[in-house]
Amino acid sequence: MSQDLWTDVDRYITDRLAPRDDFFEEALKASAAAGLPSISVAPNQGKMLSVLATLTGARRILEIGTLGGYSTLWLGWALPLGGHIVTLEADPKHAEVARANIARAGLADSVEIRVGKALETLPKLAAENPPAFDMFFIDADKASIPEYFQWALKLGRKGSLIVVDNVVRGGKIIDAASADANVQGVRRFYDMLAAEPRVSATAIQTVGSKGYDGFALAVVVG
Ligand code: SAH
Ligand code: DHB
Ligand code: MG
Repeated sequence: MSQDLWTDVDRYITDRLAPRDDFFEEALKASAAAGLPSISVAPNQGKMLSVLATLTGARRILEIGTLGGYSTLWLGWALPLGGHIVTLEADPKHAEVARANIARAGLADSVEIRVGKALETLPKLAAENPPAFDMFFIDADKASIPEYFQWALKLGRKGSLIVVDNVVRGGKIIDAASADANVQGVRRFYDMLAAEPRVSATAIQTVGSKGYDGFALAVVVG
């Protein structure tokens, strides 16, 4: 089993199951042209976000880590009329590229990009007492995943879905002695999930065009 095969199978799946709207590809091209790193979710992973948003009937979604807005487009693709996405991004250049990609997809009125470090913009958002978010996609710096998860619990409600990307990192997460702050952030997050009675959670390993990684899913139960 190899990366080439995983990539070919991802293409097979994407060719059949991902919508063909041009704005998805255009967003990736614009992001690459602007020099953004190519670390967006894969198309079939993006479609998974769409499926999960539909499953939860999400009308309000909070994303942490926008990059060029590619995952935002998938969340937006599943958003009902009048739905709203808030997406948090630290890098103003990433936010600018995302803004154009989101506008091209016709989502400018549904998506609000807040620029700044999420640990600074989240308390500001919470201070506005927003209606509960139905779904969260946590995909920014991995060292702060535990803090982002705590914010999701504050900003969600019973039934909210919390999706976290990159929780396997090529298997690096089982190294307790790792000096990598990202690995330690993910490990702290698993410990938090294990001890958190308010969620029912699991994590699933994935292979594909983005290599070997995984997603955590947590549903708020109380
Ligand atoms: N969700 C995107 C990929 C996000 S990549 C997609 O799948 O298309 C991670 C992003 O998080 C980067 O754009 C990075 O600038 C941003 N980021 C990193 N640290 C952050 C922080 N502290 N607060 C907010 N965003 C941050
Ligand atoms: C990387 C991948 C991601 O999906 C992400 O959100 C951040 C970084 C990476 O491969 O480095
Ligand atoms: Mg990611």
